[in-house]
Amino acid sequence: MAHPDRFLLAGVMGWPVMHSRSPMLHNYWFKRHELAGTYVPLAIRPEGLAGALRALAPLGFSGCNLTIPHKQQAMQIVDEVDTLAKKIGAISCVIVRPDGSLAGTNNDCYGFVEGIRQEQPGWRAGAGPAVVIGAGGGSRAVCYALAREGAKEIRLVNRTFERAKELAAEFGGPIRVLPWNERHDALEGAATIVNTTSQGMVGQGTLDIRLDKLPKTALAVDIVYIPLETPFLAAARKRGNRTINGLGMLLHQARPAWKAWFGIEPEVTTELREMIERTI
Ligand code: ATR
Repeated sequence: MAHPDRFLLAGVMGWPVMHSRSPMLHNYWFKRHELAGTYVPLAIRPEGLAGALRALAPLGFSGCNLTIPHKQQAMQIVDEVDTLAKKIGAISCVIVRPDGSLAGTNNDCYGFVEGIRQEQPGWRAGAGPAVVIGAGGGSRAVCYALAREGAKEIRLVNRTFERAKELAAEFGGPIRVLPWNERHDALEGAATIVNTTSQGMVGQGTLDIRLDKLPKTALAVDIVYIPLETPFLAAARKRGNRTINGLGMLLHQARPAWKAWFGIEPEVTTELREMIERTI
């Protein structure tokens, strides 16, 4: 919890990190809540992560977020990892406790679900099969969220089959792994499709998937937010599917971080969203 006399500090550690919209988002909240504080991008090489995390307490940071490529490595460094982050296998948020020790949690799951709920309040994970493309860190949070929200069938496809197999073996539950070459057919009868791969992100290739089997009633979700509309989302929108980009997930995962660092639950307002959208 913040001391009233203290200048509040938090940040995001990533490599690269300068593309991140988190500083803009958190600094908007500092202003909005009339708090003296700042949120900084911290460009940390993987080999420097332990030193950087250990420096948070002496520097007076309340905590930090973690982005690519630190989410998994940080698990070995912090003093305590909560059950949710352990289950997902990644930390998205570090909290500096009063004694200087570091606690790790994962807010991506929450951000994913709340991001969808805000834009599509009627969406239900259990309404029909969900297809998840990708089996990396992002996918783990998404699969966990979908299962927790009541998805009865999650069809998981990943370029590297073994990685999807491992995820499914670890998580159990409703996940069914399908080979990469069956990804187009996997969309038949689906109610939700989520891209968790890096494909479609600026500077990356385009996600190679045919949407012709996807029901028009399905919701298409991308966790990428730069660009706001990936080629995958554009294709889905053009054929009549509802779409959701990754910005909502980014905005919403930041709320529980604030609660943990500063004891405040800030709002995701239209003004905030539009301010960030204008920079993308
Ligand atoms: P993150 O933590 O952001 O999820 P990651 O763990 O590196 O990042 O995972 C990236 C995901 O994008 C993986 O599912 C990866 O597939 P592989 O497991 O086969 O590597 C997927 N991905 C990356 N490049 C891809 C490509 N060109 N085509 C298809 N999938 C790709």
